[in-house]
Amino acid sequence: MLEASQPGNTGRPGDRAIGRSVGAPEAPNPAAVVVLAAGEGRRMRSATPKVLHEIGGRALLGHAVHAAAALAPEHLVVVAGHGRDQVREYLAELAVELSRSALLAIQHDQRGTGHAVACALDSLPAINGPVMVTYGDVPLLDAGTLRGLLTEHAATGNAITVLTAELVDPTGYGRVLRAPDGTVSAIVEQRDGTPEQLAIQEINSGVYVFEADVLRDGLAQLSPSNAQGEQYLTDVVGLAHAAGRRVGALRCPDPWLVSGVNDRLQLAELGAELNRRLLAAWMRSGVTVIDPATTWVDVGVRLERDVVLHPGIQLHGATTVSSGAQVGPDSTLTDCWIGPGARVVRTHGSGAEIGAGASVGPFAYLRPGARLGADGKIGTFVEVKNAQIGQGSKVPHLTYVGDATIGEYSNIGASSVFVNYDGVTKHRTVVGSHVRTGSDNTFVAPVTVGDGAYTGAGAVIREDVPPGALAVSAGEQRVMDNWVPRRRPGTPAALAAERAAAAELDGAPDQVRSAEPGDTVGTPAAPQGGSTLG
Ligand code: UD1
Ligand code: CA
Repeated sequence: MLEASQPGNTGRPGDRAIGRSVGAPEAPNPAAVVVLAAGEGRRMRSATPKVLHEIGGRALLGHAVHAAAALAPEHLVVVAGHGRDQVREYLAELAVELSRSALLAIQHDQRGTGHAVACALDSLPAINGPVMVTYGDVPLLDAGTLRGLLTEHAATGNAITVLTAELVDPTGYGRVLRAPDGTVSAIVEQRDGTPEQLAIQEINSGVYVFEADVLRDGLAQLSPSNAQGEQYLTDVVGLAHAAGRRVGALRCPDPWLVSGVNDRLQLAELGAELNRRLLAAWMRSGVTVIDPATTWVDVGVRLERDVVLHPGIQLHGATTVSSGAQVGPDSTLTDCWIGPGARVVRTHGSGAEIGAGASVGPFAYLRPGARLGADGKIGTFVEVKNAQIGQGSKVPHLTYVGDATIGEYSNIGASSVFVNYDGVTKHRTVVGSHVRTGSDNTFVAPVTVGDGAYTGAGAVIREDVPPGALAVSAGEQRVMDNWVPRRRPGTPAALAAERAAAAELDGAPDQVRSAEPGDTVGTPAAPQGGSTLG
């Protein structure tokens, strides 16, 4: 990873470090931001274009375009080449997200960064003023840093302002050469540099602001006569300097911000760094993160005050966790809304809404359209899909609830199945309020259980149950006395039965077992029934 050799570098004449331009004028809106993303990204070894790989739940290109869009440029252009169709599709999604679209410029052959910028300008009407160039594979570069670069550019009246960084190991990067007056005279690439030039630790981040006319003039003069046979955008810097135009630099004190992704190791490193930064910001805003090392949040996640994230959590997409709610340990939630004070333990969920004060898990599976009301409960080994469970209602144990509406303060017995699919069509089950269903029930949809109704244990509910009724469907229990001692003589079961019979003859009292809260016990109203408490 990159390392700053001198954080907070004092700089030289002709450049400044970000954060020291206090009182500087507001950055003007750029005429254009050009995001370069045409490279193949061969080192990713992927069928997906490099810039569409994600960190923090957003494609690398998405991070770059979000930052660019925040500058409100007149034109926002993405240059694509490899995987252009996938990039085009992604830009269409981004346009919806950002409510502004980026223009796609195609660079058919990757003839270098200068050629890529020329392709972008060719797709635009003639423009004047500052043009910013950034990369689609530099995901941590934020709008604040880009704005700082624009402000510096405007304040100095530079023809070009380069964002640079000082690295302990600058290998591979273009080096920034300085004129005696401290301005930038040229950028020399690793493969073209002399040993003295390669000893320079100040590198070109690849992010610049150019005055449009200087950029156009420079691009027109580029030639591929260098070690890589490419049209280097960096040569525009030397050309402008030679033409007597002033080129300045702005140091980025935080090398992470200008770090690019070339392979999957760097993808993971930058992903982890982004996550550390997101979590740090959430902790500063009042969220408890018990174990940042095992907690992952996407950029689109929202967390309110006094949320507690236990170890082993992934929060994805547009998940919101409301104030005082606790998630984890060990939960993965995508596009979920967790209400205030709710508790979600060891749960895998997507597209679910959990009401205030409700409780979910451990070991729950929430699928899209699962909606649990305030103070409700979805318990252990319960799967819920496209089902609304009302306020205070409980589905505590071992149950599948699919395509259902359950009213308020109802209790679904353990080990029940909402049979929603007849092999052709999905149907809905409706359960009213204050209903108590027995354990091991099967609701064959479409079917309705009315308010205040009960059902017995093991019932198969095929017909509607009116409000207040008890529905039972299990057959009569048959008991064949002494079947085991007669038919399985000598087995441990038969011996146990014989001991029990002898003890009964001796007049020993029956063993009494009392129910504990949460146990599955019989419903008083249903002799052959059973529902769940807890
Ligand atoms: C470039 C800079 C170098 C700088 C480094 C920072 C040049 C000549 N060199 O080098 O000074 O230190 O970035 O990371 O500009 N791209 C295109 N079309 C092309 C070529 C590249 O769109 O024809 C895109 C790539 O997708 C990538 C970016 O431009 O996002 C940089 O290209 P790359 O080839 O990686 O440049 P470097 O050699 O890293
Ligand atoms: Ca690169």
